[in-house]
Amino acid sequence: MRILVKNLSFAYTQKFVLNKINFSLANGDFLSVVGKNGSGKSTLIKCLIGLLKVGRDQIYLDDIDINDYKKMFKIGYVPQKVDFNYEFPITVKEVLSAAYRKRRDSFYASVINSLDLNRFYYDNINTLSGGQLQRIFIARALLNHPKLLILDEPTSGVDQTNIESLIVTLRQLKEHDITIILVTHDEALVNKLSDYVLELDETLDYTFYKVGEQV
Ligand SMILES: Nc1ncnc2c1ncn2[C@@H]1O[C@H](COP(=O)(O)OP(=O)(O)O)[C@@H](O)[C@H]1O
Ligand SMILES: [Mg+2]
Repeated sequence: MRILVKNLSFAYTQKFVLNKINFSLANGDFLSVVGKNGSGKSTLIKCLIGLLKVGRDQIYLDDIDINDYKKMFKIGYVPQKVDFNYEFPITVKEVLSAAYRKRRDSFYASVINSLDLNRFYYDNINTLSGGQLQRIFIARALLNHPKLLILDEPTSGVDQTNIESLIVTLRQLKEHDITIILVTHDEALVNKLSDYVLELDETLDYTFYKVGEQV
């Protein structure tokens, strides 16, 4: 998905969080969004997925103003905090097959394998750790074949081995022309994957640069 952000500003009732942000991404670009807690990273993401409403002429998805964009299902979103409070018993398998009907195909298997979900595939999701839940959310987003995948701090609570396999998975997606936006504090991840970096700071300033060309 192509993304154009033009002079994007956003304020909650009392507080300005984003001030005149500009950047654009082409199909298959990988953007890392970095910055301290409270600098507005999650707010930016929520604007891009339509969860927070922005004015016209600030965000375009595939050249369409986000206010007119009708295909939000093309965006896979893994939120920062995964709150999964199911009272009723449901297994990992059930969560994922609800998202994806062709359960026997090789794409399904490769997603399950790359995120290492086999070991708890038949477990009740209530019994899983935060990191395990996050991987299930990532799998669910991938199974929908998104054109844009947004991950908001997906590696908090995920151990190093799984971070490595997440890197492999994200690299493969990039090769399939999926645009990826990753919010992270993990510098190694930024260096290994990004084409572009957007750094937000609390003074409402920001820098956007292509990796390898920063001054
Ligand atoms: N729903 C909200 N209402 C009011 N203020 C909010 C809301 N969500 C976030 N904020 C404030 O906006 C600022 C940016 O928050 P956020 O986008 O979550 O930053 P980050 O993801 O970089 O930690 C913070 O000061 C936060 O307190
Ligand atoms: Mg955040």
